[in-house]
Amino acid sequence: MYRLNSVDPHLSELLSKEVQRQHRTIELIASENFVPPVMLEVQGSVLTNKYAEGYPGRRYHGGCHVIDEIESLAIERAKKLFNAEYANVQPHSGVNANMAVYMAVLKPGDLILGMDLSHGGHLSHGSKVSISGVMFASRCYGVNRESETIDYDEVARLATEIKPRIIIAGASAYPRVIDFARFREIADSVGAYFMVDMAHIAGLVAAGVHPSPVPYADFVTSTTTKTMRGARGGIILCKAEYGHKIDKAIFPGIQGGPILQNVAAKALTFKLAMTEEFRRYERQVAANAKALSLGLAERGFRLVSGGTDNHLMLVDCRGKDLTGRQAEESLEEVGIAVNKNMIPYDPAPPAVTSGIRLGAAAMTTRGMRETEFRLIGQMISEVLTSRSSRVTERVKGEVSDLCNAFPLYFDRVEAAGATLGAS
Ligand SMILES: Cc1ncc(COP(=O)(O)O)c(C=O)c1O
Repeated sequence: MYRLNSVDPHLSELLSKEVQRQHRTIELIASENFVPPVMLEVQGSVLTNKYAEGYPGRRYHGGCHVIDEIESLAIERAKKLFNAEYANVQPHSGVNANMAVYMAVLKPGDLILGMDLSHGGHLSHGSKVSISGVMFASRCYGVNRESETIDYDEVARLATEIKPRIIIAGASAYPRVIDFARFREIADSVGAYFMVDMAHIAGLVAAGVHPSPVPYADFVTSTTTKTMRGARGGIILCKAEYGHKIDKAIFPGIQGGPILQNVAAKALTFKLAMTEEFRRYERQVAANAKALSLGLAERGFRLVSGGTDNHLMLVDCRGKDLTGRQAEESLEEVGIAVNKNMIPYDPAPPAVTSGIRLGAAAMTTRGMRETEFRLIGQMISEVLTSRSSRVTERVKGEVSDLCNAFPLYFDRVEAAGATLGAS
């Protein structure tokens, strides 16, 4: 791998192996994507050398005039892209963005109402094993047992009963459109703040493929990875009236200096997300997810809620006499990466699960369309249905052919091959 090879051959070899693994894998992990090479350039830039505690125009370090321009660019682009009144682009991650909102408007012990982790919610929405559930009291809402979609009447009933200080919408594993207007109504009816964590669907929102939460929520948090296909990190959008509190909660509240190469990469992420190419990409992501879900349903797999409206789906593996963990392992053997995932009302423990979560964002970036996604559905079905070594070997070959037909980071994969060949 370039000059790293001579400075640290061991690390260089590991990076080369990872480049090759990414190239050779059908990546269906719903939270992953492949950034364009220019994003790697920015994230690997000299900005890593700079400290810039504070915000543009009010820093605790000297020499920040260029940094101020970069951060202001990221802020202005984030506001424009999502039509938001205020943006903070410093959160190091999605969890930090969520924690900052809680720090800004809650007191320790205040009550959070978020989506049940085992129904698709996220740890940082009040789970007892996360700091969000340690510092704050929390309750959760889930999905309806029959429809497996959010039961808004039940959310309203629960909110009226428990009077949360903040209500959170947004999920890690929910395949359907979320009704933000309805959540807003519920929050207003009990005098709660309303926050949306759009980490998974942010790219779809930016492209107009999923309705935007921005007009409805007091706070919208997100990662800039996943469907946004950009920098590693988080953002917070909010109404202007909360801007000062949010800034204070990030710095000095829960973070020190911003990771400036990531702030710059967020500026690039937002610029790319304003293009027609990006909007086409997101429409294709949704179309590909639909093609994969239909292909699996036709082959007898049960999909949670019957399908998908966004970039991801949850497959119930019990119909094939498999646990989620077994399905994940069998698919990994042929080069298809998915993750085991709880399904609503799952009888299996979290380390086993009854389901797998599949997403279309990453392989759509590699140029695949409905035809390839239907083929991937067929491969998944063959591996999980037949479970014979003959089928495993054949599908391994098919995965390899498909990956080679849609190459990733071509020059890096070539260089990795040379490095590994030479070592
Ligand atoms: C809905 C949601 N919020 C927050 C996060 C956490 O983001 P990070 O890993 O950047 O802290 C995730 C991660 O997958 C997520 O799905």
